[in-house]
Order: sequence, then structure tokens, then C-alpha cells
Amino acid sequence: MTKRIALIGSGLIGCGWAVVFSRAGWDVAFHDIKPGRADQAVEDTKASLENLESCGFLESAADCAQHLFSVKSLDAAIEGATFVQENVLETPEEKLTVFEELDRKVPKDVTLGSSASTIPASAFTEQLEGRERCIIVHPCNPPYLVPLVEIVPAPWTAQATTDYCIKLMTDVNLVPILLHKEMYGFVLNRLQVALVNEAMHLVGKGVASATDVEKTLKNGLGLRWSFMGPFQTMDLAAPTGFKEYATKFGHSYRNMGKELGVAEEWSTDAIDQVDQFLRDEVPLDKLKERGQWRDRKLMKLAADGED
Ligand SMILES: NC(=O)c1ccc[n+]([C@@H]2O[C@H](COP(=O)([O-])OP(=O)(O)OC[C@H]3O[C@@H](n4cnc5c(N)ncnc54)[C@H](O)[C@@H]3O)[C@@H](O)[C@H]2O)c1
Repeated sequence: MTKRIALIGSGLIGCGWAVVFSRAGWDVAFHDIKPGRADQAVEDTKASLENLESCGFLESAADCAQHLFSVKSLDAAIEGATFVQENVLETPEEKLTVFEELDRKVPKDVTLGSSASTIPASAFTEQLEGRERCIIVHPCNPPYLVPLVEIVPAPWTAQATTDYCIKLMTDVNLVPILLHKEMYGFVLNRLQVALVNEAMHLVGKGVASATDVEKTLKNGLGLRWSFMGPFQTMDLAAPTGFKEYATKFGHSYRNMGKELGVAEEWSTDAIDQVDQFLRDEVPLDKLKERGQWRDRKLMKLAADGED
């Protein structure tokens, strides 16, 4: 039997999921409330598939593209769906509206996933009759090249739903992690926010230019972090490993931690400086092309990192 995913919301992340699932042989139904968006999503997904094929990351973009189709209504999207993934705006109200309708209409044995990147499922599923089949399945962008996916059950999510999603994500070649409790922002975004807030703070305070902060990640931290995490990085930064590192440097982390600007607002000045740097690098009308460039870079990295 052909497996079929219904994508409710067909923007950036909907298209990312479409690559992941069509690559794994699933049919993909796009639905969006914005007229014409689901059709455009088919075209955007084809462009990503072609980029993957041209770099040898996919045997046939055309074969995958045959699995993609756009539909005009949510009812048509969920018909025959084996899995439903919501990708609408990041507000509890929007998610609740969609989940109420999905829970009423989708057969009870079908799992309802949400791409929410910060909001836990308990914020919009508590009152649903089928709340045990609702769960956060939070991908990275683009999910077809950055494979981590966060599985975040609500307190009432059934174990079978969680197990199903972990297996499903593994089957479609992603790398799932499981959160043992809900927390706003989950793991990936909390780590990202700590770092990005401090980056904005450093620019806003005039400590370094946007160009140099970007270089610090690109030519410094990011190089190591592209193939190992911060724990292994520390383990290799002291002759006898992590415990020595913690003894030697733990107090510096504590001291710096006290003065980090991670809870401060982004200043208008910092936003302007970072924007100026980015527009000098890539004009707005070239952003889509830059996205394809990013994908090609990620493919090279993935090709090199297979040991
Ligand atoms: N952009 C990212 O990097 C990223 C990464 C991971 C997760 N997410 C999450 O994925 C979700 C979608 O984000 P995005 O970046 O794709 O946003 P987006 O704005 O590109 O797409 C959202 C789409 O949902 C549609 N939509 C809104 N309400 C709808 C409804 N009721 N029914 C059907 N379609 C509806 C919109 O028309 C739009 O096309 C958000 O929860 C976001 O936090 C985003």
C-alpha cells in the first residue's frame, strides 16, 4: 500500500517535508489556505529535488516528483493519509484551529504531528478527544539535509504515538531525538537562542562587527560543531578529557555566563548592522538562489562526513 503524508501548510517547512517523504517513496499531498500556494509548493519542492539530483544526492528527482500533488481542501489532503503533519504559523491559536479540525476529521489511528519549533503540544491539544495521537515532530531547515528532528510528546501523548514517530523519522532517514519533558523552544532552539542572542548582543554593544561575529561561527565554532557537539569538543580540549576541562575552565564558563546578553532584546542598531552585512553579501532578490547554494554546501559536508 502506498503511504501518504498530508501536509497542512505548504510554506518553507511543508516543502522540506515533501522532499523527505517523496524521497522515501511516500505520496505527498500539499494543502494551504493561501490560494495558489499548494501548487507553488509542488514547484518549489521539484526545484529542491533537482538540486539534490544534480549533486548526486538523489537518483531521480522526476521519480520523487511523481509523488507530489496539491489539493484544494484539508478534506482532500487527509483522504487516505497515513500520517498528517501540520506546518502552519507558529501561534497556539493557529495550531489549535488546525488540530481541532484534524482531530474531528482524521481517522483515530492516524498520528497528527506538528512542526512547531517552540510551542509544546500541550498548548494546543489538551481539550482534543484524540489528544493521545498528537505530538511535536520538529524538523530542522532544510530537513532533507539537516537530519535532526525533535520528538516532543505532550504529557498525554500515547507511548505508541511517540514510538511510531521515532520509527517513522528513522525510516525516512532523519535522526530523531526524544525530549523527556516539554519545554518551550525544545532543545535545538534553546541552544540556538542562547548563542544567537549573545551574537546580537556583541554586535549591539559594539564589541565586534556583524562580519566578524559571523566569521567567528563560520571559521571557528561552526567548523568543529559540523561534525561533533560541544561535549566532545571539550573532551578533546584537555589532555585527560572532559573532567579535567570542567575543573580547569568551569569557573570561566560560570563567570561569562553571568554577563551573557542572552535575555536582552535585540537592539535596533544591532538589527540594522546585521541586515546591512547580509544585504551586502546577498541582495534580497538572490535569497532563493542562496538557499540552493546552502543546500549544495550541506551536501558536500554530508558527503565528506560519512565515516
Ligand atoms: N522556517 C523554519 O526554519 C522552520 C524550521 C522548523 C520548524 N518550523 C515551523 O514550521 C511551521 C511552519 O513554518 P514555515 O517556516 O514553513 O512558515 P511559512 O510561513 O513558510 O508557511 C506557513 C504556511 O501555512 C499556511 N497556513 C496558515 N494557516 C493555515 C491553515 N489554517 N491551513 C493551511 N495552511 C495554512 C500559510 O499560508 C503558509 O503558506 C511553524 O510552526 C514553524 O515554527 C519552521
